[in-house]
Amino acid sequence: MTPSPSAPGSHVASRLGLTERVFAGAKSRKLLRTVEAGLQTVEENLAVELHVSDALADATSRYLYEAGGKRVRPMLAMLTAQLGEGINRAVVDAATALELTHLGSLYHDDVMDGADVRRGVPSAQQVWGNNVAILTGDLLFSRASQLMARNGERAIQLQADTFERLVLGQMHETVGPQPDDDPVAFYLQVLADKTGSLIATAAQAGVIFSHGPEEYAEAMVVFGEKAGVAFQLLDDVIDLSADPDETGKVPGTDLRAGVPTMPYLLLGERTDAASVDLRARIDSGVARIADGADPALLDDALAELREHEATSGTLDLAARWSNDAIAALAPLPDGAVRDALTRFARAVADRSS
Ligand code: IPE
Ligand code: IPE
Ligand code: MG
Ligand code: MG
Repeated sequence: MTPSPSAPGSHVASRLGLTERVFAGAKSRKLLRTVEAGLQTVEENLAVELHVSDALADATSRYLYEAGGKRVRPMLAMLTAQLGEGINRAVVDAATALELTHLGSLYHDDVMDGADVRRGVPSAQQVWGNNVAILTGDLLFSRASQLMARNGERAIQLQADTFERLVLGQMHETVGPQPDDDPVAFYLQVLADKTGSLIATAAQAGVIFSHGPEEYAEAMVVFGEKAGVAFQLLDDVIDLSADPDETGKVPGTDLRAGVPTMPYLLLGERTDAASVDLRARIDSGVARIADGADPALLDDALAELREHEATSGTLDLAARWSNDAIAALAPLPDGAVRDALTRFARAVADRSS
């Protein structure tokens, strides 16, 4: 992934193939231009909001922003603003604040997951240590709140509620299921909370702040959450099969660190000898890595899991969540925006970065 200091909206959106896939067809050209112009404004806003007068905090805050990112959440907000009166200052502020929230969560997530690489560069804690990485995340959350506060109580409430869900999702993932929880159902709820929540809010915010109908805003909450779960399920598959050049992440980071992912959980539901054996090898590898062994010792087991039905089962599950997202679009009028959202839901469940 190439660092993008100026990070124009057009090329960041295309990271997911979104430009080609979401805005396919001549009828979408005008919509694409509108969304790209909005993303450009968000990009400028981000650069302003990320500036901190303290030189170290300025460098740490800008670090992951300048390293890249797909801007999926702002893109969704720009798109759903077309269901109201279009992009305005409040829509741009909300999209910026939600991207800042996402960015802050990445600093924290990499500390929690022990991830060495993010967006193709060493993770922040590799450069400055855990404390500075955590504090940078906190700083970005503060900036997001300040930005939301400019647009009134509903904006503040939306930000706070979303952030609470994201944090609880991360907390539940960390703590894991209780003995009487079904591990797969528990994990799907984690995905809805840690990732679906923010994507749902981005989709909803475009409608709310462009003064669109409440009925559409409600549909966008369901749409965003379902699409967000599909997006995160693909993230689990990408964690296994990642081409580091394309994803900016090290393959198998989560599994090697013992962070459960859906392919691993579906593997655990299998009772055939080969699956039980593979799961046991992964578990013992994770334990040895935790004791300081070379993470590469799991390379073969992870390659096997990649080819296992548990991974194709995860892709099937992502396709189901994506279809549910598309079904949630029913209240929307036919047209270019609904088509683009439909393609967005398909693209997130079928991506490689
Ligand atoms: C990564 O999100 C973290 C998840 C919630 C899966 P993205 O895949 O949107 O990350 P960037 O912004 O493009 O780096
Ligand atoms: C990230 O989840 C979710 C949040 C940051 C809230 P993951 O840990 O699964 O995402 P990646 O793979 O590190 O991007
Ligand atoms: Mg992670
Ligand atoms: Mg994580």
